[in-house]
Amino acid sequence: MLSSKPTILVTGGAGYIGSHAALALKKAGYGVVVLDNLAYGHREIIEDVVKVELVIGDTSDRELLEQLFVTHDIAAVMHFAAYIAVGESVNEPGKYYRNNVSSTLNLLEVMLAAGINKFVFSSTCAVYGMPKEIPMKENHPHNPLSPYAASKDMVERILADFDTAFDLKSVAFRYFNASGAEPNGNLGEDHAPETHLIPLALLTALGKRKQLYIFGTDYDTPDGTAVRDYIHVNDLASAHVLGLEYLLDGGDSEVFNLGNGNGFSVKEVIETARKVTGVEIPALESDRRAGDAPILVGSSEKARKILGWNPQYADLHKIISDAWKWHQQRHGSNS
Ligand SMILES: NC(=O)c1ccc[n+]([C@@H]2O[C@H](COP(=O)([O-])OP(=O)(O)OC[C@H]3O[C@@H](n4cnc5c(N)ncnc54)[C@H](O)[C@@H]3O)[C@@H](O)[C@H]2O)c1
Repeated sequence: MLSSKPTILVTGGAGYIGSHAALALKKAGYGVVVLDNLAYGHREIIEDVVKVELVIGDTSDRELLEQLFVTHDIAAVMHFAAYIAVGESVNEPGKYYRNNVSSTLNLLEVMLAAGINKFVFSSTCAVYGMPKEIPMKENHPHNPLSPYAASKDMVERILADFDTAFDLKSVAFRYFNASGAEPNGNLGEDHAPETHLIPLALLTALGKRKQLYIFGTDYDTPDGTAVRDYIHVNDLASAHVLGLEYLLDGGDSEVFNLGNGNGFSVKEVIETARKVTGVEIPALESDRRAGDAPILVGSSEKARKILGWNPQYADLHKIISDAWKWHQQRHGSNS
């Protein structure tokens, strides 16, 4: 189908957040090409649901990227491709620096050589480390506590240096906890291994897991469990379209938090998941995990002001209900 708007390359578009962004771009009228090595992505969600072109390949593959920029008239790149497991990054740091930093550097060099200088990047609130203030703003000091977080921080630094040297214009989004699913339930989160609380709770509700762990019940928070900022994946996707349009309109490089602005405790999430599913999800209380902050909540005022971002799905019940629809469809209901 011919598109009146330019074509965007979406790396990692067969993964969780990238697939929602690819769909949002398509709905907004952009041409979309997804590049994914399918290490963790799902071919069928691109072929059957998002229905855009899928190129199977790796961002480390310079020749493939060079070809891709010749055969497609690409105006900008949205870069979701990365490894995302914080715990694994501690044990296998090389894997994370190679994929998240070296391959990103490769992609940046090839796209700049092809004359493309607009880049939307998936960063993370984990670049901040332990919060010194809540809600955290973009000027909060950085103290990444894992190789994963450091790899994102390094790319942010590379983006700033490439702007100075080569006029690369980028928007880096520091997401808080991505969550939820496409409201009709045909697109959602399917990580293997899964480490995120909401899908773990829902997989437990479906009987795919025996129980759930609550890590730490003695934090200085209202119910003693850790508080996180859950942002609906479709709100992330809409921010990406706005970030892209900001760059296409000639905007300067910027960094934005993307969060809900409301914190929810682990116990609140589990209680809400119980209400949504009607299942008594077994949860075992366990010790704190090293490096976990008591509270992580972000201020996204800057994205609201500069991009005109207006998130639609701040309600935890809605976030979990959407995710539940997807999980039932994907993994089968036990009812
Ligand atoms: N999920 C979250 O809560 C969260 C929070 C902050 C930041 N992020 C960032 O958002 C991005 C997307 O996260 P997600 O949850 O959708 O992860 P995901 O694992 O579902 O998606 C990542 C996709 O990238 C692909 N990929 C990885 N390395 C690649 C490479 N070298 N070449 C081509 N494809 C490659 C994988 O196959 C996968 O489909 C990541 O960069 C992640 O660091 C995610």
